[in-house]
Amino acid sequence: MLGTDIALDLGTSTVKIFLDGKGIILNEPAITAVNVETDEVVAIGKEAYEMVGRTSDRIKVVRPLCNGVISDFDLAQYLIGAYLKKISGSKLFMPRVVVSVPCQITEVEKRAVVDAISSTGVRKICLIEEPVAAAMGAGVDIARPYGSLVVDIGGGTTDMAVLSLSGIAISRSIKVAGNSFDDAIIKYIRRKYNLIIGQRMAEEAKMAIGCVYPRKDLAKYRVKGRNAMTGLPQWADITVDEMLEALIEPAMQIVRTIQEMLEITPPELMGDVYSDGVILTGGSAQLFGFDTLISKKVKMPVHVADDSEICVALGAGKAIQFIDDMENKEYGVLNPLSAAY
Ligand SMILES: Nc1ncnc2c1ncn2[C@@H]1O[C@H](COP(=O)(O)OP(=O)(O)OP(=O)(O)O)[C@@H](O)[C@H]1O
Ligand SMILES: [Mg+2]
Repeated sequence: MLGTDIALDLGTSTVKIFLDGKGIILNEPAITAVNVETDEVVAIGKEAYEMVGRTSDRIKVVRPLCNGVISDFDLAQYLIGAYLKKISGSKLFMPRVVVSVPCQITEVEKRAVVDAISSTGVRKICLIEEPVAAAMGAGVDIARPYGSLVVDIGGGTTDMAVLSLSGIAISRSIKVAGNSFDDAIIKYIRRKYNLIIGQRMAEEAKMAIGCVYPRKDLAKYRVKGRNAMTGLPQWADITVDEMLEALIEPAMQIVRTIQEMLEITPPELMGDVYSDGVILTGGSAQLFGFDTLISKKVKMPVHVADDSEICVALGAGKAIQFIDDMENKEYGVLNPLSAAY
């Protein structure tokens, strides 16, 4: 497999790997479980996710990637190395890598991402800004002199940008996304029922019946946890109306940020965006009613991209073809990649 190029999306919730010529070949939780006594990693990915909220005092669960940047360098390095090994098997593997990074990342944060990857034996690392990758993955032709608005609602951050000519005209990033929705559900259930539930239970309930716009069905979801007063086991059947009540505030924070960004978008680009509408990507774009809510508030059409959760990885994968131009610094090529190391 020597010479095969790959794209990496190091998300807050999941790591996705795209292999050139194959597509997405890995999509696993960005989680490690560590033995606190020996500092050894005992599990990663799906196996570590199973342990969330169920650890003993000897094991702690760590998410080494937070909001697209590295929060624990050694564990991030371990995780990336382990996943690269997993996809390459025992074969010699020295790929060139395109990695997506948030658009408002500092030089130091960029360097940490590059260092964590380069120690795993890759030949070259190119960076692509997340909204650019998200738009490419959603099938937008970003090289045109025409504005497109993409909003990527992930696990840790919502990144949004107006793109034109393969670059970012204007962008915003807020730390309100999937994890904030889970937290909002936990707080709501605690306040209303005196019931303490875990992060995973909240996420399961969100995926089952979550919504940010009124939903007609009468579905309920049973959440189980512990009563805050008595400490005894307790459950509650949560309705879609309660979900809406819990989730509308963080959803509106995202809507307001889109509105603020539109207020300062140059008029020509604004015209383009108004006719084509907003493209939603990221796992949390699948939350029921997000497209309708945004469409009502910003008064333009909104589309959720197909396979929204993997758009960034797909787009970074499509950008692999630009690595050669980056190496040759060919004049006149509008390159969606932003830096090479
Ligand atoms: N059907 C669904 N309904 C609601 N939320 C969902 C659904 N599917 C996935 N999610 C949420 O999407 C989030 C993960 O999305 P994604 O993989 O785009 O994030 P990420 O890339 O890891 O994070 P980030 O881009 O913020 O660093 C999780 O919070 C998950 O709960
Ligand atoms: Mg993401």
